[in-house]
Amino acid sequence: MAVQENMPSKGEASGAVERPPLHVAIVMDGNGRWAKRRGLPRTLGHRAGVEALKRIVEAAPDLGIRWLTVFGFSTENWSRPAAEVAELMALPKRYFETDLARLEREGVRVRVIGSRTGLSRDLVKICSEAEARTAGNDRFHLNVAFNYGGKADILDAARKFAEAVAAGRARPDDLTEALFDSQLATAASPPPDLIVRPSGEQRLSNFMLWQAAYAEFVFQDVLWPDYSAQHLAAAIAEFQTRDRRYGAVVPDDALAAG
Ligand code: FPP
Repeated sequence: MAVQENMPSKGEASGAVERPPLHVAIVMDGNGRWAKRRGLPRTLGHRAGVEALKRIVEAAPDLGIRWLTVFGFSTENWSRPAAEVAELMALPKRYFETDLARLEREGVRVRVIGSRTGLSRDLVKICSEAEARTAGNDRFHLNVAFNYGGKADILDAARKFAEAVAAGRARPDDLTEALFDSQLATAASPPPDLIVRPSGEQRLSNFMLWQAAYAEFVFQDVLWPDYSAQHLAAAIAEFQTRDRRYGAVVPDDALAAG
């Protein structure tokens, strides 16, 4: 597994942030409540959520982050009222229309992860264009999880491997964690070091279930549209206090046990 490889070496990160989480994943939650508190329709909460996303994508590289995965639309969000689903479907366009040129220029590689099934032809085109125009970039990686579900991601990977076995291209024993990783929607990224969820809710909601195996979690009491670089910096500061052992023990404790 790439987990240990994902640990930053001293001085690897940019700027003054020491031992930053290289991959941060965010459940962008609280748009609806933000709007409700202001007596606004939920749609305006989602639009304010796009503005928060812009701020965070700009701030993340300076905080030492190299991969950012954001949860934009889950496989369960289809069950929302049709008008809200329509608004959510319009968000990638709203984001890329204003920001794609800058992302391209600033070395950001965009990937839209999740199923394209059920998305309009226009939306698929917008997502593919964002990916194609930034395909040569490597300074920072932005994964937009859209029509994404952790269970569906795992099922798809399992199905691909089962098909390879059925076709005689693989044997059941060939399946390793690394091979399974390579079949997931996030194959191009290391696993997340830190998963952040604002809005006060404390759950994963079917986000990156396999990938979260050794992630640290930070839950913050702020609604996503109000999320700022300072909130992200605070989440990182909290991450830096965590002792990541990956199921092992620290050497001193090992000696004590012996
Ligand atoms: C959850 O909040 C948020 C969403 C379902 C949408 C997230 C999308 C954005 C933040 C905009 C950026 C998106 C892209 C793809 C560019 P909620 O509506 O469940 O809020 P609530 O829990 O307060 O009701």
